[in-house]
Amino acid sequence: MKITINQSKDYVNQKVTIGAWLANKRSSGKIAFLQLRDGTGFMQGVVVKAEVAEEIFLQAKGLTQETSLYVTGTIHEDTRSKFGYEMAIESLEIISESHDYPITPKEHGTEFLMDHRHLWLRSNRQHAIMKIRNEIIRATYEFFNNEGFIKIDPPILTGSAPEGTTELFHTKYFEEDAYLSQSGQLYMEAGAMAFGKVFSFGPTFRAEKSKTRRHLIEFWMIEPEMAFYELEDSLKVQENYVAFLVKSVLDHCSLELERLGRDTTHLEKMTAPFPRITYTEAIKLLKEKGFHDIEWGEDFGAPHETAIADSFEKPVFITHYPKAIKPFYMPEDPTNREVVLCADLIAPEGYGEIIGGSERIHELEALLKRVKEFGLDEEAYRWYIDLARYGSVPHSGFGLGLERTVAWISGTEHVRESIPFPRLLNRLYP
Ligand code: 4AD
Ligand code: MG
Repeated sequence: MKITINQSKDYVNQKVTIGAWLANKRSSGKIAFLQLRDGTGFMQGVVVKAEVAEEIFLQAKGLTQETSLYVTGTIHEDTRSKFGYEMAIESLEIISESHDYPITPKEHGTEFLMDHRHLWLRSNRQHAIMKIRNEIIRATYEFFNNEGFIKIDPPILTGSAPEGTTELFHTKYFEEDAYLSQSGQLYMEAGAMAFGKVFSFGPTFRAEKSKTRRHLIEFWMIEPEMAFYELEDSLKVQENYVAFLVKSVLDHCSLELERLGRDTTHLEKMTAPFPRITYTEAIKLLKEKGFHDIEWGEDFGAPHETAIADSFEKPVFITHYPKAIKPFYMPEDPTNREVVLCADLIAPEGYGEIIGGSERIHELEALLKRVKEFGLDEEAYRWYIDLARYGSVPHSGFGLGLERTVAWISGTEHVRESIPFPRLLNRLYP
């Protein structure tokens, strides 16, 4: 019977075969402990010299790191390991030997590991982070499907730049100029006018010369958009969504969280609702915390966001930013025209902004005025302006950055470990 490691619990005391790789090994004259991995999990295989043919024991002792093999033996419960099962190996068959595997159990520098990302993904820690990423993706679909959203896929090659033109990847579209999408939002607004509640989930690109623990050049974003939703309605969706993601990871990835040493008592506190403060209150808070130089009207940097986040246990919404530092599509607050109806969600522990969102301008006059003020090409935005022309309604949406969310929930310092093959400033390899 051929099984995978994660099926072991159903085969206790049965003889099975598992296709695996040798992650690590310890052996003495009498016994060899093989750390096996097969993609579904990690498990120990034990070869006892006295219980197998001489040649099997010698083969086991001689196995090199990342050699692929079939192991056959009996699954036993193993209360000492968190996984809970191990295999008493009776025989093994080498599929393909691996010599001089570059990533050894000793410490390696980050650049070395990033150069070997295609192999580094096999490691225990990277495996745990990718499983958590996968759970967040799975839970995203579950959440939005349960809430009655439908998935709409915006294009990746576009002619428009919703978040401003400074961070665009330019390319040729035959004779025309085109850009890689920095956000699907404007298309999602068209989707909301057609389907009510929609969400997208896809890659986005920012040619941003930022080299921080929060910035990727290519990252994945989830962008819901809801017709007839005002800012507060949208914030409710956001906090329920993020709380659902955290709970899903706690429920389904306990082994992975443990392997990463993640403090789950922190995650267990992440229930809705989340606190809200206005930008103006945030400025006041920062001044009280010793940031005397920051002036009303300036955007927040990482140290500011971290200081604000540290004042709360849960993620915090910062609402009503100054109009001048936000994109063209955000409507003014009718009670204070200097600020817009928007909110960023700042994660705890210095992980920074994980969501950016807002209401959208839906009145034609106001939109045309903004398009002009921002110097946008009206022709390129004609289709978007059509949305305000033909029965527009108040609507709101947001974008959640997948990698920053994975980094926060898994407790990974840098976003480069929360995506399989990170695209960073100065890194397009592998
Ligand atoms: O705040 P941003 O730029 O918002 C938008 O693009 C809106 N159009 C979304 C919308 O309303 N539909 O980006 C949204 C989120 C950020 O909060 C952050 O989590 C992530 O995307 N993000 C990045 N993640 C990694 N690397 C980068 N360079 C990122 N830029 C944004
Ligand atoms: Mg933002």
